Amino acid sequence: MSEPKPILSRTPTDSSADQFAADVQYYLALQPRQLPSRYFYDALGSALFDAICRLPWYRITRAETRLLAKHGREIFDAFGRGVDTVVELGCGSGQKLMTLVQAGRRAPARRLELRLIDVSASALASSAGALSALDDVHIVTYEASYEAGLAEARAARPGSGRTLALFLGSNIGNFDPPGADAFLRGIRAALARGDGFLIGADLVKPERALLLAYDDPLGVTAAFNLNLLVRINRELSGDFDVSAFTHRAVWNARASRVEMHLVSRGRQHVRVPAAQLEFDIEDGESIWTESSYKYDPDGLRLMLERAGFRTIHQWIDGDDTFALTLVAAA
Ligand code: TRP
Repeated sequence: MSEPKPILSRTPTDSSADQFAADVQYYLALQPRQLPSRYFYDALGSALFDAICRLPWYRITRAETRLLAKHGREIFDAFGRGVDTVVELGCGSGQKLMTLVQAGRRAPARRLELRLIDVSASALASSAGALSALDDVHIVTYEASYEAGLAEARAARPGSGRTLALFLGSNIGNFDPPGADAFLRGIRAALARGDGFLIGADLVKPERALLLAYDDPLGVTAAFNLNLLVRINRELSGDFDVSAFTHRAVWNARASRVEMHLVSRGRQHVRVPAAQLEFDIEDGESIWTESSYKYDPDGLRLMLERAGFRTIHQWIDGDDTFALTLVAAA
């Protein structure tokens, strides 16, 4: 049976261009200079990220997809009353949600509500398009940050079944530890007791493998990182000389994170008029664009339990590269 599948779209009410300008002004003036990673994902950035996910050295997406396909049924079956709503924070291309629903949902099923939250309009459009091929789903997209999307998702909690929230792709690793704790508590607060939360997280592995994943020989990750400057130039009339910056990935073992930087080759003067910003950047000085924390399986469960969840199950990919952890709101 195939019912009509309306796709609703909600766009942010705040002016996202003003927010971008304010963030660029604030973060580029910090010492060390920084840029928030949510701005990676314009149309080109989202396409480059999809390309990263296909690189042989970036194994997160494939490991996670394997686990979702293999354990999807157990994931859906873990909730007695049945899952009637799936909320994905940062859906990207939507492929992983597609895999999970195809592997896990039992037929005949009741209608499944899919709520997609992402900062990228292009990612939302392509994932909503792909997911609408599923039978008997209702798709709602939110072009919003995780926080704003969560608030919306909480405000409109339908149905009598369980909600399953997804936070995949090791995106938890892009928060620092206090930020991750606060974010997980926010998710817990948006759920009702007994609802599910499925989180994917990359595990600590040898430095060589980590660095290849974030500084690949084809230069796709470098392009992805540098595109942030291209975006500032285009949207905020900046004059970054993009070719005078180098992508650098560093493994910080003490903090258990890969750090991504854009390093200036030579002293440069930079103007970003739409962000009312003008500064000199020194030779070798870096703009820190992202951290990607790596975990161990026990540490992950403890972090989730601190935030008010109880562990249902944790699956580890065959070669100890990635963990998928299913918890319930306690
Ligand atoms: N969430 C992804 C990760 O941490 C994002 C990512 C992949 C990324 N490659 C990157 C961010 C390179 C910045 C630079 O794995």
